[in-house]
Amino acid sequence: MINRSLVETASDTSRHKIRIWDLPTRLFHWLLVIAFIVAMLSQGDDRYLDVHVVSGYLFFGLLGFRFIWGIIGTHYVRFSHFAFDWKAVWHYLKMLPTKQRQHFLGHNPAGSWAIFIILGLGLIVSLTGLLTLGGEERHGPFAGMISFALGSSIHEWHEVTAWLLLGLISIHIVGVLVESWLHHENLIKAMITGLKSVPVSVFAQPLSVQRHGFTATILILVIIVIGTWVYSKPFIGPKLPDNVVWREACGECHLAYHPTLLPARSWQRMLAEQHEHFEEDLDLDDETLLEIQTFLMANAAESELTEPAWKINNSTPPEQTPLRITKTAYWIEQHQNIADEIWQHPDVNFQGNCGACHLDAEQGTFEDAAMRLPSSSVPF
Ligand code: HEC
Ligand code: HEC
Repeated sequence: MINRSLVETASDTSRHKIRIWDLPTRLFHWLLVIAFIVAMLSQGDDRYLDVHVVSGYLFFGLLGFRFIWGIIGTHYVRFSHFAFDWKAVWHYLKMLPTKQRQHFLGHNPAGSWAIFIILGLGLIVSLTGLLTLGGEERHGPFAGMISFALGSSIHEWHEVTAWLLLGLISIHIVGVLVESWLHHENLIKAMITGLKSVPVSVFAQPLSVQRHGFTATILILVIIVIGTWVYSKPFIGPKLPDNVVWREACGECHLAYHPTLLPARSWQRMLAEQHEHFEEDLDLDDETLLEIQTFLMANAAESELTEPAWKINNSTPPEQTPLRITKTAYWIEQHQNIADEIWQHPDVNFQGNCGACHLDAEQGTFEDAAMRLPSSSVPF
């Protein structure tokens, strides 16, 4: 424990500034703050899922950097420098209200623990986020590797751990404020400039005024390149099965609604009643009918090819055979908050006109990121 702590005495009058936090660590810290705030603000609403995912990737990437930097970084930011045991934490907290309180140049023992827990929990939040993305949305490195059901239970863990992380961050902020106040030292400013002022009696020579412009530039470039790459990849899932006969026959009067949007029994009933199709007679010959039926059955909601398919299938009770997608519980729930003015917009006309708001309605994927409300309507 050499030089880890330093206790000030009353006679310390002359001081000099030394750099404790190197530039990469400071950049890491504030970018992590931004990534976390953006991720929290964009959570819970699928319309901002792309923003949420990008900030999550940034958060995860930054943590990855910090784990490497904790091993190869400069003196004060190395994990080995602030790995205190529990006794040290207890001692530090016990002395805090007294005049003999210890003053640390780097992280104090309690702060160190908070940081380790925040980093570890951050990693769990990132990983559960990636698994949720892979299971529920079929995106990211785990796309399609886990079921929707597992994805959605991991989703709950993702939320719980994220709120827990917010709680820990609050404790961390309180700790910073308390220590700043007790030692008359602005720790927030120190994390911006990297500098702390130290009595000359403790360090005759500035210990570690490091220059890390080069490392920091590389770090920023890497983050920008990865960020641009992630963002430029459209959030559009795998291509769904298609069929020419179906597309022509069922796309004549309205959008060819993809089979994934209704359960198999609904399609079966719809085709059986083809002569009274919403007051129209489809008048399909047997061959065409069979081809369409085969295609609809194979890719109906039960196939769970997309998130909406999975949700429509799960929220439709088996005794119901809806003929309208717009009458399924899932569809109603998803669209209940859309204002009347939007439904009356000339580009929309009727609820079944999915393409007015979903850019990928033809493909049937109904991705969150492909949702656009008609322009000139009120911002939603
Ligand atoms: C001759 C025109 C016509 C053809 C061809 C046609 N439909 Fe329709 N379809 C309609 C009309 C009209 C409605 C009712 C629109 C409304 O009132 O919103 C409708 C509604 C639907 C709906 C309900 C949409 C909702 O509100 O959720 C589905 C599903 C549907 N059709 C499937 C099909 C399938 C599958 C085929 C091919 C086998 C097909 N349609 C071919 C005219 C047609
Ligand atoms: C007036 C615009 C509009 C029309 C028309 C519309 N939707 Fe939507 N839809 C939305 C909006 C807005 C959301 C997002 C709701 C939210 O996230 O709060 C949404 C969400 C969805 C979702 C959920 C996406 C997800 O993964 O969270 C599905 C699936 C969907 N719509 C399917 C359809 C289908 C099928 C039709 C046609 C039968 C349709 N929508 C017609 C505006 C529309």
